[in-house]
Amino acid sequence: MKVIVGNEDYISQLIADEFVKQVNAKPNSVLGLATGTSPLKVYADMIKANKEGKVSFKDCATFNLDEYIGLEGTHNQSYRYFMNDNLFNHIDIDKARTHVLKGVGDYEAYMRQYDDEIASFGGIDLQILGIGSDGHIAFNEPGTPFDSLTHIAELTESTIKDNSRLFNDISEVPTKAVTMGLKSIMNARKIVLIATGKNKAKAIYNLLKGPKTEEVPCSILQDHPDCTIYCDEEAYSLVK
Ligand code: F6R
Repeated sequence: MKVIVGNEDYISQLIADEFVKQVNAKPNSVLGLATGTSPLKVYADMIKANKEGKVSFKDCATFNLDEYIGLEGTHNQSYRYFMNDNLFNHIDIDKARTHVLKGVGDYEAYMRQYDDEIASFGGIDLQILGIGSDGHIAFNEPGTPFDSLTHIAELTESTIKDNSRLFNDISEVPTKAVTMGLKSIMNARKIVLIATGKNKAKAIYNLLKGPKTEEVPCSILQDHPDCTIYCDEEAYSLVK
């Protein structure tokens, strides 16, 4: 794994540049996308590059990592809403080619076909990940099997607490989600992970220095052939 340390603006711009480079080299790239606070500046920089005519996403397809169970795509905390609001509504992508797991209705049927659907598009070329303070990636919480494909996950108390900042009350945070599995993520050809803030320092330490164990889901990335970790000084502080 490669590690790049710098402030949030700097690392976000570097990651956005990776997406621009990827899409310019292969206009019909398949992009793996994450929600949460971590990728927000990356998406803002991608929007800027698109508006400045440096890249076009019109032939790309996207697959998102996860979705809360119980939230309609129109709910303002759903991940479909997040993606439309923070990226898709502002770039020239064809929304029919953007895929976000469903959280309501026939979500189990859609979940079961998700990995095959990714494969039918040729697999993910470039995947962005955030990381949870407990070391989760997507919603793969500690103890998730390394060979997992897209599945239903129970969120841990620490994840519910972390994510409650975005809801009016912690009781409104869904307790379950549908998520790409660890194997689904490892299938991506290239992975970039972004982590900022002290809250992520232990997870980054475990990712870079700890043993590979299912108790630390992100540690599976140690085996990925093309994975770069981008973090700020705070997230990197325990590694130094
Ligand atoms: C979101 C996701 C999660 C987040 C993680 C960090 O699609 O997959 O694993 O990346 O919970 O969230 P933030 O970035 O809000 O700290």
